[in-house]
Amino acid sequence: MTYITSELLEPTGYVIVDGYNQAKDHQEWLDVEYVDWKSSGDTRFAPLASAYGEMECNGFWNHTPPKTDKDGVWVAKNVAAAPLLTARAREVRANIGRCRIIELQPNTYAEAIYNLHRDDNNRLNPEGTGWIVRAFFNLTHNPDSYMILREDKDDPATETRIPLPAGAQVVLDTQRLYHAVWHPGRAPRYCLITSYESGPALDSWMSQRLPINQFQSEALDSQFAQAAYETADARRAARAASLAAQGSDPRFGDGTLASMEEQTSGMSMETLSEA
Ligand SMILES: [Fe+2]
Repeated sequence: MTYITSELLEPTGYVIVDGYNQAKDHQEWLDVEYVDWKSSGDTRFAPLASAYGEMECNGFWNHTPPKTDKDGVWVAKNVAAAPLLTARAREVRANIGRCRIIELQPNTYAEAIYNLHRDDNNRLNPEGTGWIVRAFFNLTHNPDSYMILREDKDDPATETRIPLPAGAQVVLDTQRLYHAVWHPGRAPRYCLITSYESGPALDSWMSQRLPINQFQSEALDSQFAQAAYETADARRAARAASLAAQGSDPRFGDGTLASMEEQTSGMSMETLSEA
């Protein structure tokens, strides 16, 4: 038994669809209530759908009873404040798990590389049902910010950088691809992140919007990139040394990267930082 997946996502793990005309809409992300839910990095989140409709962002499996990242319950107060964003999330017509707006403060390319991680979207997801993937609808105009994706976390040659102007819409298998957002702006970036169950509804939504699953990234300056990789590597080494000194396994249990991802899996994309 396996999961129902998307043929469009299969080749690369990402699908970029036609942009949305974001400029015509009211900036609802400024009207909703945010909660201090850190994965890592400087983030806040405003839930539109949570496990049981409360104003919180915990993983669905951390509730009683636990559940997989499907059948999210709308958070009344934020849905009332953001009817257009709620309608956009529902437009896909696929089963929705978490649905939330992320506020991400500016960061560097090196920080984004350090933050690369995969999500744990399919915990408790029964085989034979749809694989859970996540859609990112960029809200603010951040043409110089990028969704960084890697098949291999340690291989820059596998990297794709997708620019994030207002209205950019990307569907990602975030349990397959390492990902993080590089946001060099001065103001926070806002993005609607929704967990969807793969299946005919999601396939139909993507197919109707000029889907692209092969994207040629603009080249980075090689010296700039190399310096960033060295910075990220040094930070990883320092963290591993610190954990070793404390007698911890660097992969787990330190309250930061790995364990935080464990807690928030699938939640924040951008920083694990976010997942
Ligand atoms: Fe993530």
